[in-house]
Amino acid sequence: MLRRMNISGATDWKETVAPDEVERFERYASELRELQKKHARGGHPSRALHAKGHVGATGELVVSSGLPEALRVAVFAEPRSWPVYVRFSNGSGRHQRDRTPDVRGMALKLVGVPGRKLIPGLEDKRTQDFLFIHTPATPFPTPDEFVSFVRANATGPALLLPRLIGTFGPGRTLALLKRLASMPKVPSLASVPFYTALPLRFGTMAAKLALFPVGPSAGGTADALRENLISRLRSGPLSWSLRVQLFVDERTTPIENASVVWPEDRAPFHELARLTLPQQDVTSASGAKLEELIDRMSFDPWHAVEELRPLGAMMRARAIAYRESVIERQAAPEPDDVVKLAG
Ligand code: HEM
Repeated sequence: MLRRMNISGATDWKETVAPDEVERFERYASELRELQKKHARGGHPSRALHAKGHVGATGELVVSSGLPEALRVAVFAEPRSWPVYVRFSNGSGRHQRDRTPDVRGMALKLVGVPGRKLIPGLEDKRTQDFLFIHTPATPFPTPDEFVSFVRANATGPALLLPRLIGTFGPGRTLALLKRLASMPKVPSLASVPFYTALPLRFGTMAAKLALFPVGPSAGGTADALRENLISRLRSGPLSWSLRVQLFVDERTTPIENASVVWPEDRAPFHELARLTLPQQDVTSASGAKLEELIDRMSFDPWHAVEELRPLGAMMRARAIAYRESVIERQAAPEPDDVVKLAG
């Protein structure tokens, strides 16, 4: 059915690079690294953001057969299976209770991917990552707002409001708080969609990607995201449909404004692949070892081939911020293969 659909996306997208941005993004990255050190309190640092991992697991991403020509891009070029590592996380740089409102993350690492990669020094690595959060856009149009918010939030909940008003003024603060309050609740990490939220190249087009859960979407207690996922993985496999949403034009699907949700009526999602995490016990001895390894890995949208290059200022800011965080916490090198769970 999909095969007969005539799918095409516009190719006249463009990025707008400010002359001072490298310097600015370097500053943001060092600021995040300082917070990362502060949160470590002299111990081994976690990630600067998304510090708390819920579950690390392995699985496979199976590219759909009969994809329309336009969607056969990079790792989606042919129907085949990619082994993957997956890490679920909370967005904060602190390890806090799941009942505290936060962004939830899901990071995917495909292994065995050929082609030249984008991060200088890692061109020959064989990984392609996709990082997702549980909202289709961010409340922040630019990395400047994003980092200002992280900075205000780092002082703790009591000072957040005065800090936000001091930074953004009362009107923008109110708008931001409203947007944050409208973030969907996550009863279970296996029952909500996850979005790249920011665009990436998709061959000659531009796109956002998303993962939609397939199968029964049972809930759980919001306080126990890890326990919920562990028990669901123990009782059977979990699956997601990986879908792409193509750039239409700058007004409808902007590249540089990270706060705009690309409307599904103008830019519908098309399935590219199915992600499956097979039944597994991440608490077994080998599962625990694997989780430790996954927690030390570096998931980064810039672990990518040129055909899937991250786009927009927010993505370009991430390129520098992830590098600093990874150096500070001495992350594991890129894997060559996916370790299989015994049993
Ligand atoms: C909407 C856009 C974003 C998404 C979807 C996103 C997603 C994620 C996810 C899922 C992780 C955890 C990766 C893991 O499990 O290893 C992560 C980590 C991180 N994010 Fe983002 N993020 C976004 C924006 C940003 C921005 C704008 C910055 C900073 C300018 C940033 C800085 C970081 C840092 C420093 C880490 C830790 C990296 C590491 O040590 O491995 N993120 N992000």
